[in-house]
Amino acid sequence: MAIGVGLLGLGTVGAGVAAILTSPEGRHPLVGALDLKKVAVRDPGRVRPVSLPAEVITTDPEAVVDDPAVEIVVEVMGGLEPARSLILRAIAAGKPVVTANKSVIARHGEEIAAAAAERGVYVLIEAAVGGGIPIIEPLKQSLGGNRIQRVSGIINGTTNYILSRMADEGAAYGAVLADAQRLGYAEADPAADVEGHDAADKIAILAGLAYGGPVPRAAIPTEGIDRLEARDVAYAAQLGFVVKLLAVAQRIGDPDDAGVQALDVRVHPTLLPVDHPLAGVNGVNNAILVEGDPVGRVMFYGPGAGAGPTASAVVADILNIAGIRQVGGPQAGLDPLLAASSWRRCALVEGALTSHRNYVRFRTHDQPGVIGQIGTAFGSAGVSIQSIVQLECDGGAAEIVVITHDVQEARFREALAAIEAHPEVLTVAASLRTL
Ligand code: HSE
Repeated sequence: MAIGVGLLGLGTVGAGVAAILTSPEGRHPLVGALDLKKVAVRDPGRVRPVSLPAEVITTDPEAVVDDPAVEIVVEVMGGLEPARSLILRAIAAGKPVVTANKSVIARHGEEIAAAAAERGVYVLIEAAVGGGIPIIEPLKQSLGGNRIQRVSGIINGTTNYILSRMADEGAAYGAVLADAQRLGYAEADPAADVEGHDAADKIAILAGLAYGGPVPRAAIPTEGIDRLEARDVAYAAQLGFVVKLLAVAQRIGDPDDAGVQALDVRVHPTLLPVDHPLAGVNGVNNAILVEGDPVGRVMFYGPGAGAGPTASAVVADILNIAGIRQVGGPQAGLDPLLAASSWRRCALVEGALTSHRNYVRFRTHDQPGVIGQIGTAFGSAGVSIQSIVQLECDGGAAEIVVITHDVQEARFREALAAIEAHPEVLTVAASLRTL
């Protein structure tokens, strides 16, 4: 029995999906049952890597959702609107949805999930995080028996490509970004990637699944790589670390009496010890490390973007829904694991109350006693130092790098302010979190 599929968008990911659906040979037999009925495009004149019959193409996305022959709606157009409204329109019509749209799910996931639950349809989002890496379904299903302690990951390929080249070549951020744009790895407007917003959308989604309740996307502290200096990447390497844009979500204690789980969720450039499992993830690849009780550490690694990998994830979701259709469902209600129902509330802890190790680079006058003064100031503020080194000096100025032990953010900031007030200290030139 054929199952009608409607596609909203025929860009990189949409064309990748169409390529799989129109070449079912050698794939799971259910792929052959998927019939691409209608595809919405913005520009019908554009040359595309996949050729489809003219009668399938429309410029009206609502016509795809409303077409009675379309039983599953696949949203791969991106952006907040009209994507959100089209997803809600499909749900209202009783049609299951597959979407790769992390910005819509990170911001409107609760609204969409509530509408889907009410109407009894699935909304599946495997392609929204990590491209071709299966991480959404494993979190929802395969790891469902665990208490998740932490989810951390490199979940933006563009920034990982830039950071890998900065580390390998000692190149400046701006030069590598320009090169990445020329090669088509980075968008013409790279802000969402390099400022960390793309990774923040993705960790909001992962945290919501791992901890069972929506996370306030707008409250996630987010710092990108756009102010990272090549010298900090080089100093980090000298000290045995690599710099990665890390997205982290971890539980802080147990849920409170009202059942609210406190979480520390954030995105920022982070120094990872070279032997950390995520430290060897290079180029446009992504990886997500899940730490759970009792499973321990599980790492998911692979291509985090691109037509083929992302389409692989989209088609997996379509197949999940098609499989349920094939056996006549869902008649007795949605499977709560596949539907990703939320079961508790989560709240973010205040950043100042969280604790981390830190890398900090001071620019100081090069004169006797400065290292001692910095050490004493950290000591008086109760900040324990793991290492302190003078790495370079020029024209009477010195570069002093400190790695601290774990310290509460508020205490660390107070210590930095006190050190900056010393006349020998010219500036706090860089401050990065360290695992
Ligand atoms: N722009 C994203 C990245 C891919 O560079 O990883 C889509 O999520």
